[in-house]
Amino acid sequence: MSEANESKKMIFSGIQPTGVFTLGNYLGAVRNWAPLQDEYNCIYSIVDMHALTVKRDPIAFRQKTLESYALLLACGIDPEKSIVFIQSHNPSHAQLNWILACSTQFGELSRMTQFKDKSKKHPDDVNAGLFTYPVLMAADILTYNADLVPIGQDQKQHLELARNIAVRFNQRFGETFVVPEPYIPKVGAAIKSLQDPTKKMSKSDDNPNACVYILDDKDTIIRKFKRAVTDSDTVVKFADGKDGINNLMTIYSCVTGKTMDEIESEFAGKGYGDFKIAVGESVADSLKPIRDDFNRLMSDKAYLKECYTQGAQRAFRISNKLVTKVSRRVGFVDVR
Ligand code: TYM
Repeated sequence: MSEANESKKMIFSGIQPTGVFTLGNYLGAVRNWAPLQDEYNCIYSIVDMHALTVKRDPIAFRQKTLESYALLLACGIDPEKSIVFIQSHNPSHAQLNWILACSTQFGELSRMTQFKDKSKKHPDDVNAGLFTYPVLMAADILTYNADLVPIGQDQKQHLELARNIAVRFNQRFGETFVVPEPYIPKVGAAIKSLQDPTKKMSKSDDNPNACVYILDDKDTIIRKFKRAVTDSDTVVKFADGKDGINNLMTIYSCVTGKTMDEIESEFAGKGYGDFKIAVGESVADSLKPIRDDFNRLMSDKAYLKECYTQGAQRAFRISNKLVTKVSRRVGFVDVR
């Protein structure tokens, strides 16, 4: 795709390069991105600027960003069909971020649950970037006039804020931004920790058994599922109060396409042990092609560089038009 096809709707989404993607990232978001590529103009980004809100070692950070980019391609994002780029390579995001920050209230940023959680987790570094993070996220989306944003449940509040910023800007300066809609999967939008199924599965979990990473090998994946916290019941059934089993059933449903009823019948009369192994095996098998492709891509750095360089150029061609329009709307002096 060289430029956006005007007859198709626009999609934007991003993921932070904070480590190997988790099964939550994959089932809640990235897995759903590839099938959208034929029907929509898709723009996908490794949002490295967002990841800078937490202190990082520069060398490891650069490596993780490259690995995350390769991982996106390994997950089926095709640079011929979509624009795939690294956020810091396109200056439009930072430019629009500032303008939108001036249209965002301190009070609404203070209400963001992710800010509250992260500032509790890193009390020694509650930096301004952490606070204004959702404004940059709004800029990511609005600078492409995205119609749809495929995300997991935990990003819904940020998307809501992006919508509010767009509406407010349009009211004040005239129709400028498309007001984006969230695109949240019916099953898998909130994959939980395997060790505490009341919490979301998160890359930053201190317990390595809480989280399946999509590059984990088969034995590791099965071991993590075998150790998954469930309850004292024995029946594989989706029901209130069975958070652990509900989570495993959700994962199994995402990977196999089976409904909850079908899963209940499949494991009728069998215990949790058999079920956990089946979940582990199906997850490991479905992730195997990604592992293989990732290793192949990481051994071809020149190809990766070509892809992310072209991706950034294409992204800029689209976003810069909007930044120019916004600059005129707010009253900046035209440079040309
Ligand atoms: P991030 O990097 O934390 O996560 C990437 C995507 O994975 C989803 N996700 C989950 N889905 C289901 N279950 C889970 N346990 C789980 N954990 C994560 C997230 O909802 C997300 O869709 N702020 C964003 C990145 C971002 C962005 C954007 C997204 C920056 N700009 C613009 C969309 C549009 C974030 O930190 O996602």
